[in-house]
Amino acid sequence: TTETSYFTTDDELIRKIFKPREDFSHKGTYGKVTIVAGSYGKIGAAVLSTKAALKTGAGLTFSLSPECGYTILQASCPEAMFIKGGDQYVNHLEIDESSVYGIGPGLGTNPETQKVVFQFLKDYSKQLVLDADALNMISDNKKNIKLIPEKTIITPHPKEFERLFGATENSFTRLELAREKAREYQIYIILKDHHTQVITPEGKVYYNTTGNAGLAKGGSGDALTGILTSLLAQGYSEEEAAVFGVWLHGKAGDHAAEKYSKESMLPTDLIDELGSVFEKLN
Ligand code: APR
Ligand code: MG
Repeated sequence: TTETSYFTTDDELIRKIFKPREDFSHKGTYGKVTIVAGSYGKIGAAVLSTKAALKTGAGLTFSLSPECGYTILQASCPEAMFIKGGDQYVNHLEIDESSVYGIGPGLGTNPETQKVVFQFLKDYSKQLVLDADALNMISDNKKNIKLIPEKTIITPHPKEFERLFGATENSFTRLELAREKAREYQIYIILKDHHTQVITPEGKVYYNTTGNAGLAKGGSGDALTGILTSLLAQGYSEEEAAVFGVWLHGKAGDHAAEKYSKESMLPTDLIDELGSVFEKLN
């Protein structure tokens, strides 16, 4: 048997990971993010992940989406730049090697989208976050799992995890399977749940302590993808970005619940509350 270390993500650990912004810095210091997300009717997912990347502090943020999202994205995220990746869905994806990518929210699983995403996975060599439909299209055929580059962070919710790696009886056996797969594919798995777990390729498990049932709404996951990609672009390691990002997401969700209640808080509110979380860290 392999040895596992279990950790709890507490404030002390987060303070060790957090890197305050330098006075003598410029936008290049904080990296470049490209969010590949959205399809007709799901442009909101691209908006949420793009906004979350901006609000987490990336230096430059791009949103690669289909043309039908152009006006929506430019109007709702003026700080982000738009890259046209198709008309109604993404079918064109050129790699910018100077950017860190987050792929998946609201992307849809059109075969043309699948084709360009799979080609991307073969050619790309930088840090990467895969979520939602990027994971769903990989689940189509178990052989595709090998396409996920080593050190990628994947963020499946329980159903997406099951589609990727198969069903398990309970959350304990699911965690064991996740540890096995993280090791086999040398990837970071963020198992999203009430207490989200971060699993490293070495078999370490971090239990998150923030977040609440107000997050149980479509769009919360999209925000997490933006946060994680933004942290990677800013120079956090995969392990740091995963642990810190999940904590930040939950903490901002807790602030939003205090202000608006678990019922009424929206993923948009969570993104807005990232500011008050960073304020307390600084
Ligand atoms: N307690 C704490 N955190 C929670 C809770 C809860 N009860 N419920 C959800 N969360 C958190 C999860 O940990 C995760 O970070 O909210 C986030 C939800 O992420 P997703 O399940 O990916 O949700 P999201 O992608 O926003 O949902 C929209 O998911 O299944 C797809 O296609 C489906 O359109 C849908 C899309
Ligand atoms: Mg999701």
